[in-house]
Amino acid sequence: IQKSFVMMKPDAVQRRLMGKILARFEDKGLQIVACKLIQIDEDLAKTHYGEHAEKPFFPSLVEYITSSPCLAMVIQGEEAITTIRKLVGATNPLEADLGTIRGDFGMDTGRNIIHASDAPESAEREIALFFNEDEICDYKIIDNDLIYE
Ligand code: GTP
Ligand code: MG
Repeated sequence: IQKSFVMMKPDAVQRRLMGKILARFEDKGLQIVACKLIQIDEDLAKTHYGEHAEKPFFPSLVEYITSSPCLAMVIQGEEAITTIRKLVGATNPLEADLGTIRGDFGMDTGRNIIHASDAPESAEREIALFFNEDEICDYKIIDNDLIYE
């Protein structure tokens, strides 16, 4: 069982897509173990996206992410990190397959709806950056025996 950090970006919140997007993760059989609406400040945005600090789009990325609240989550499940990246789709929503979140809801890389960790190391780093340990709920979900053999 793996945990991933997932975050609906300001465009998803502003466009009232939170419920629809959350339903996709629940429908898949994944388990939400932490969830909060958070107004990200410039420092946190720059730390979270530190790997892109030298990219030309970095200032606009920071501006976008800090423009309005985001919905930060920890989502758990078997192979959660790669499973969620598949559900999210390619970075550019025009290239993302239809049926993925970005493919179905987005039109522009600079407004691509959602973030998801891309590897175990980044998941660990991002979860620790956004959540205290006591904000992550360790609970057994009642239908897990129907979701997993
Ligand atoms: P995240 O889950 O948000 O990390 O997206 P990703 O892993 O699919 O892509 P990546 O880490 O390469 O880029 C991080 C974010 O920067 C993207 O999700 C976009 O919001 C933004 N971004 C990446 N490339 C571009 C670009 O060429 N132009 C613009 N405007 N934004 C970009
Ligand atoms: Mg990324």
